[in-house]
Amino acid sequence: MKVIFLGPPGAGKGTQAAIVSKALGIPTISTGDMLRAAVKEGTPVGLKAKSYMDAGQLVPDEVIIGIVAERLEKPDCAKGYILDGVPRTIAQAQALEDAGVKFDKVVSLEISDDAIVKRMSGRRVCAKCGATYHIVNIPPKTEGVCDKCGGELTIRADDKEETVRDRLAVYHKETEPLKAFYQQRGLLCEVSGNAPSVQETTEAILKLLGA
Ligand code: AP5
Repeated sequence: MKVIFLGPPGAGKGTQAAIVSKALGIPTISTGDMLRAAVKEGTPVGLKAKSYMDAGQLVPDEVIIGIVAERLEKPDCAKGYILDGVPRTIAQAQALEDAGVKFDKVVSLEISDDAIVKRMSGRRVCAKCGATYHIVNIPPKTEGVCDKCGGELTIRADDKEETVRDRLAVYHKETEPLKAFYQQRGLLCEVSGNAPSVQETTEAILKLLGA
């Protein structure tokens, strides 16, 4: 099963990918997580990516295409995977197609810009394991502490309101056209990213994937 999760920043791609990949027994490949790890480790990719990420802009296609191609070669991808946050431009989608990757479904999580701006101010992320929470919608058992590993919960550098608005503008300009790209290939499915609960969105996705 090879699936792409599309959607604006904060639509819930990472939250759903964590649950769905466990349910299907396949890994999630998140370019956002890979880039944040590279920034933390100070690798050449991280050094190149940091200024783009801090400004809410996309990291250049050639960097992304390179790290994704390398990741998809790993043995854990043999049975399939969920791509979270990639492709994000037509050039990235075309590179995957040119490499012969065939997807089963492209799930687009739909949510309004206003709902995202409101939601992002409450996101908290574990500094140690990367688990994602929301102070109101998905709170940890103990404030500021990760349920999974006890790590400290932090605010992502790019979650400031003005940066979120910049990321949304980039999404509409660069990434939203991918919906038409995958619609033409008969792969696009739209799911509400703003259902009353995370579980309802998960159930809708699993149903679409026939799981
Ligand atoms: P990336 O990390 O991919 O960020 P993003 O796509 O902007 O998405 P987010 O991680 O912000 O949101 P999400 O949809 O995963 O939502 P989440 O589940 O956390 O990319 C970061 C940066 O890296 C980019 O700006 C760019 O610079 C660079 N980059 C990455 N990939 C790239 C690429 N391919 N090409 C070029 N550059 C790239 O949920 C959000 C919040 O909502 C959380 O608090 C969560 O708890 C809560 N929540 C989730 N679901 C629900 C629900 N149903 N109801 C209520 N609250 C919910």
